[in-house]
Amino acid sequence: MDNEAEKRWNFVPIHQKYQREYFDCGYPVLNDYLKKYARQNHEKGIAKTFIAISQSEPLKIEGYYTVSASVIEFDSLPKSYQKGMPTYPIPALLIGKLAVDNSVKGQGLGGELLVDALFRAVKASQEIGIFAVRVDAIDLRAKEFYLKYEFIPFQDQPLSLFLPMKTIFREFIQFLFSDKREEKS
Ligand SMILES: CC(C)(COP(=O)(O)OP(=O)(O)OC[C@H]1O[C@@H](n2cnc3c(N)ncnc32)[C@H](O)[C@@H]1OP(=O)(O)O)[C@@H](O)C(=O)NCCC(=O)NCCS
Repeated sequence: MDNEAEKRWNFVPIHQKYQREYFDCGYPVLNDYLKKYARQNHEKGIAKTFIAISQSEPLKIEGYYTVSASVIEFDSLPKSYQKGMPTYPIPALLIGKLAVDNSVKGQGLGGELLVDALFRAVKASQEIGIFAVRVDAIDLRAKEFYLKYEFIPFQDQPLSLFLPMKTIFREFIQFLFSDKREEKS
């Protein structure tokens, strides 16, 4: 699955050399963020932006996501997750934005962006406390996208969801083992 020959996109930090002006995911607010604010927020440490670049068009931004430090309020957690948790804000990694250019929608990039962001959460959580990854969906359609990947809605915020690191670790371990099995066979 991670075979270089099959890999269509690379995920790299945003940089001024990439073409942002043509990006269109159908949501002006997400297009504008990439064009006007992503790079300065990246440099200021407000939110890091990672972009998807294909081998055929290495300067064209085909998708992006942002990550930053965040918290989850105890009261937002579903009751079943509150048990045994501290009542003060719980550390999380926020995927604030995630978008795919219209020209490549439906080809798997949205899912790959999400996996890349979750992998960054796994790496960060080795060094700092992160209980879960949270996402803010832009609308109910976007929420459906995250529900597909087992994100759990908060009880008091209809468009925000979270995925516990425990679930992410389990999924990544399964993914790594299934890769090893494929390599052996
Ligand atoms: C949502 C979005 C990121 C999906 O990107 P994509 O590259 O088209 O998605 P993929 O091809 O990786 O599809 C992954 C899976 O999600 C599903 N999916 C895609 N868009 C979806 C949506 N809006 N709602 C529900 N499911 C969706 C696909 O059917 C696919 O499922 P499958 O694996 O069972 O076939 C893209 O449509 C987009 O940029 N939308 C506008 C911005 C947005 O909504 N961002 C999300 C968070 S703010």
